[in-house]
Amino acid sequence: MNPIRRPLIAGNWKMNAGGQDGCALADAVAKSVKDSDQVDVVVSPPFTALAAVAHVLDENKSKVTIAAQNMHAEPSGAFTGEISSSMLKESGASWVILGHSERRQLFGETDEMVARKVSAALASGLRPIACVGETLDQRDAEATLEVVARQVRAFVDELAKQPGFGVIAYEPVWAIGTGLVATPEDAQAVHAMIRGILGESSDELAQQTRILYGGSVKADNAEGLLDQADIDGALVGGASLDAAGFGKIVEAAQRLAPRTDQG
Ligand code: 13P
Repeated sequence: MNPIRRPLIAGNWKMNAGGQDGCALADAVAKSVKDSDQVDVVVSPPFTALAAVAHVLDENKSKVTIAAQNMHAEPSGAFTGEISSSMLKESGASWVILGHSERRQLFGETDEMVARKVSAALASGLRPIACVGETLDQRDAEATLEVVARQVRAFVDELAKQPGFGVIAYEPVWAIGTGLVATPEDAQAVHAMIRGILGESSDELAQQTRILYGGSVKADNAEGLLDQADIDGALVGGASLDAAGFGKIVEAAQRLAPRTDQG
């Protein structure tokens, strides 16, 4: 971690906890992280639970904020089954996860689509968490840096319009939901490369942009990852469905957190 950037721990609930159980989880998360005042905490319920979770966090007077898991790049129109940025904001989201590897792999999202979504999110005042990461085949072919660089370059000009407002999440696909986690050193090398690309745009963008690591982050491996210079937080899948375990990841970030005013 670096003193300039405030740590951010985001839970990606994926297609889980979409109703009453989402409200219960949000309530438990709000209570378990309430003393972690040096860390930004985000939860990402499915669309159907956004408004209800916002209400629960409000009732708890919680500083935890909400991300949606996807959105359409257009503001409105004939796009059956899709959700726009303004709808997400109205439902209580202030962030949106974009280009998650599950969206790229299972739903055919391309670099170009992700860039359009990042642009639309920023234009509407939603903070994007733009995801990148290589597959196992790409890693085995030693193409990690090349693939991740290409994915970042697709949206870097968009993030440069508002330095520090957007976030990048590096999630190696082979580490997602597998229990396999990148070593802190391997993750740090990719994060440093990403920061280098941001630096080609401006020093400000490089210094202000938080880069999260995701992929089998748990309470017992979080601290080693978060201790790296260019790892500014975590995007947590499975472990974010358990408020106590998620709270421990937030506590690890709180222990390492420099005192900053970024929000
Ligand atoms: P896991 O933490 O379950 O590996 O998922 C990571 C992820 O995809 C977060 O977006």
